[in-house]
Amino acid sequence: MTDLPAAASLGAALDADSALAAFHRMWADLDRIGVHPTGTRRYSWTAEDAALRAWFTAQASARGMEVHTDANGNIRAWWGGRPADGDAGVVTGSHLDSVADGGKWDGPLGVLLGFLAVDVLAAAEARGEFTRRRSLGVVDYMDEEGTRFGVACLGSKLMSGALDPDKARGLTDADGVSLAEAMSAAGADPDRIGRDDVEIIRSGVQVEVHIEQGRQLVGLEAPVGVTSAIWPHGRWEFVFSGLADHAGTARLVDRKDAALPFASTVLAARAVAEELDARATFGRFHVEPGGPNVVPARVVALLDARAATDGVLTELVDRITSAAQEAGAVHGVDVTVSRISHAPVVEFDEELRELHGKLAAESGEYLPEVPTQAGHDSGILAPVMPTSMLFVRSPHGISHSPLEDAADADVIAGLRALVRSLAALAGED
Ligand code: GLV
Ligand code: MN
Ligand code: MN
Repeated sequence: MTDLPAAASLGAALDADSALAAFHRMWADLDRIGVHPTGTRRYSWTAEDAALRAWFTAQASARGMEVHTDANGNIRAWWGGRPADGDAGVVTGSHLDSVADGGKWDGPLGVLLGFLAVDVLAAAEARGEFTRRRSLGVVDYMDEEGTRFGVACLGSKLMSGALDPDKARGLTDADGVSLAEAMSAAGADPDRIGRDDVEIIRSGVQVEVHIEQGRQLVGLEAPVGVTSAIWPHGRWEFVFSGLADHAGTARLVDRKDAALPFASTVLAARAVAEELDARATFGRFHVEPGGPNVVPARVVALLDARAATDGVLTELVDRITSAAQEAGAVHGVDVTVSRISHAPVVEFDEELRELHGKLAAESGEYLPEVPTQAGHDSGILAPVMPTSMLFVRSPHGISHSPLEDAADADVIAGLRALVRSLAALAGED
């Protein structure tokens, strides 16, 4: 480990102008992939995903880094070579996929700053100011958002064993294409997915930079923060089964309209979430058969629920389920609820958090700790390896939207915090 004053000075000394110029060049290049007037669309195992992997590989090659895609579709670029089986490196990065019509920052910021941190440390090594002891990997995790197959953090959940590979292979997208089929079509082998202890050991320790998805850092007047914890969260599928009928001739009293209990459930979810100071969102649903003149026969809806503790999360989902069933009974509609995914509460590694804090103190910077309600691969991996996150301030806090943003000065503050942390973790005494 590089001593703290030396690591801190590597962060402080970085040339902000040239780092920003490189950042904007990379950003412009990445902008050519999956960016539409309505937002960013980058989904796993699609043509855009292949283009993102090609972009990642080109960035790595330009820096002489060795690229390897693991069995779960996570791609890493290694400075200093990919560690041998059983050896541990240091990893940074995030994900390049997006939500439907999302922003540009959620995910890519961490990958770009990972490559830029390698540039800074490689230049410092060339000047004799830094000696790398451990290989440093930049990672892009597969399908963090779960946009295509409904389960978030697919790559890290498979790698850590949090998701059963058979269940994963059977997940389907909106067109009925399974993950296994999509991987095969993209030239990957779905039979190899699953827990990967060798890759966990090889990754060693992880620091992920991410745009903050909220306004805590704005309130604290801090450009960068350390993430303390992630709320437990998950996704539940609600299926409301009624009866199709004629929108004109069917008397209201005779109908089994699946949309009615669904609508009540959306409102109940909001009310219960407010009462429990939690979050509940039905962001994806479809109506069958979907005819404008047909009484809805079926509504399939995904609930995204999050709370400060697992106990409150359970209460939240139980109460929304009861509300759905009661409304279903009123309207003669059957309701079934099944859990699609769940991520328990995460407390990030204490030693890493302490390290970030000490390095900030050494640099004379304020680096508050903040919790988050958003899920991340670093949270999924926290039970199997030490992980931590650095958040970069987002001026208005909006995320999962094209309005996501960050100021240049805050990007550089994030890069400084990352460089000094990686220098400490990957460097020699
Ligand atoms: C990931 O961004 C999530 O929290 O859904
Ligand atoms: Mn993200
Ligand atoms: Mn996200």
